Amino acid sequence: MKAKITINPLDIIGDIDPRIYGSFIEHLGRAVYGGIYEPSHESADDMGFRKDVMELVKALKVPVVRYPGGNFVSGYNWEDGIGDRSKRPKKLELAWNSIETNEIGIDEFQEWAKRADAEIMMAVNLGTRGADEARSLVEYCNLDTDTYYADLRRKNGFDKPFGIKVWCLGNEMDGDWQIGHKTAQEYARLACETAKLMKLTDPTIELVACGSSGPLMPTFGEWERTVLRECYDHVDYVSMHSYYGNPDNDTADFLASSMDMDQFIIDTAKICDEIKAEKKSEKEIMLSFDEWNIWFHSNEQDKHIDRWQIAPPLLEDIYNVEDALVVGCLLITLLRHCDRVKIACLAQLVNVIAPIMTVTGGGTWLQTIYYPFLHCSVNGRGKALHTVCECGTYDTKKHSNVPYIETIAVENGSGITLFAVNRSADESCELELNGFENYSLVSHTVLTSDDMKRCNSIDDPDAVSPVQQQIGGKIDLAPRSWNMLKFTVK
Ligand code: AHR
Repeated sequence: MKAKITINPLDIIGDIDPRIYGSFIEHLGRAVYGGIYEPSHESADDMGFRKDVMELVKALKVPVVRYPGGNFVSGYNWEDGIGDRSKRPKKLELAWNSIETNEIGIDEFQEWAKRADAEIMMAVNLGTRGADEARSLVEYCNLDTDTYYADLRRKNGFDKPFGIKVWCLGNEMDGDWQIGHKTAQEYARLACETAKLMKLTDPTIELVACGSSGPLMPTFGEWERTVLRECYDHVDYVSMHSYYGNPDNDTADFLASSMDMDQFIIDTAKICDEIKAEKKSEKEIMLSFDEWNIWFHSNEQDKHIDRWQIAPPLLEDIYNVEDALVVGCLLITLLRHCDRVKIACLAQLVNVIAPIMTVTGGGTWLQTIYYPFLHCSVNGRGKALHTVCECGTYDTKKHSNVPYIETIAVENGSGITLFAVNRSADESCELELNGFENYSLVSHTVLTSDDMKRCNSIDDPDAVSPVQQQIGGKIDLAPRSWNMLKFTVK
């Protein structure tokens, strides 16, 4: 099979906001306790954070981490996680039927984020709480005034404000599973008034209004319209969430998942622009795809986990090679929409549907999906280029005209990086490149396997890992492979 890829280095989609490589740590399962934090671990630092995990997070160059939820935030009292740790309440956590010790809260997490070279994207509770608690949290985190919450932060040992720039107005408030679930109109009013108070407290912050929890939500579209009609002038982004899976074991179809993400982004952007026109506004609402990943492997095992445990092993999906290819296609899709998607969070970062895994009291290992994320986050910064790919297509039960090759080129000032997935099960694909005349290929990294179900584990951590392909001569993309090709200016 052959594919012709054409670029023009001057034909730019847009600047890639580095925050497109964000991630997410929720108080859920072993993400915090036994994940980033384990004071009794041999690698623990002075605050109890695992240094081995920290190194793997830093290698990913995650610029922003969403916190503390997720569904968790909709029942959370942020005041439970500040100040004297011996006085913090242990509480029933109703989103995940667990026990929250509150050993970690914003006081500690902001220090972890600093050590990880990441900013925090903070979510406020609009499930059981409202505008008042949200504006107090903004004051606690961001203000330097001589007033109650800023003083409380100082009393707790933090003289300097944390400086949190991006804030989420609740989480998935359209979903009936959400604690304090609301109708679109109920949420729209609450989000609008909360946004006003938060921005009055700190006008430099950016706000994300909840969009839909997925494109299949029955309220998708009307939800966004209602929320934006109310909040347009007070918010900067609309959130999008979507998880993908292969429960029917139809790999050809699963590999086409990014087409659903693509359509979801196109539709959401159109709705934002519809309201922009309605309001005759100059302002463009940007998209924050702040939860995306594959999530289905752990569904069955999670049904058998007992309630009311501290840090139960929930949502511990073990990812295989085809999952890594889908994650690659999803990253390419986000890059293709970088003119509109300014923030995206791989959900999540450690242990919970995550690229990084730990053994409590033991070692760490990397999932297959770690690699495409690493490659894009480290090498996919700069400008995304319009990348035309002429190749064959196939049909599946749920998707038509699926291109065999998914690809995007990124220009970074000194060269071009081409990311590509070959979806074909049995054919390698020879590339014909147009527009690359002034560039030479310097490396070709490949992730593939003869077994699409192969996974890594603590005992076999390198069962699936990228290899360097020999360069010189033809450029071939192996069947069902993730590829990163680096070109430098000649
Ligand atoms: O990431 C896991 C969960 O998925 C989040 O808590 C929630 O927002 C979403 O439904």
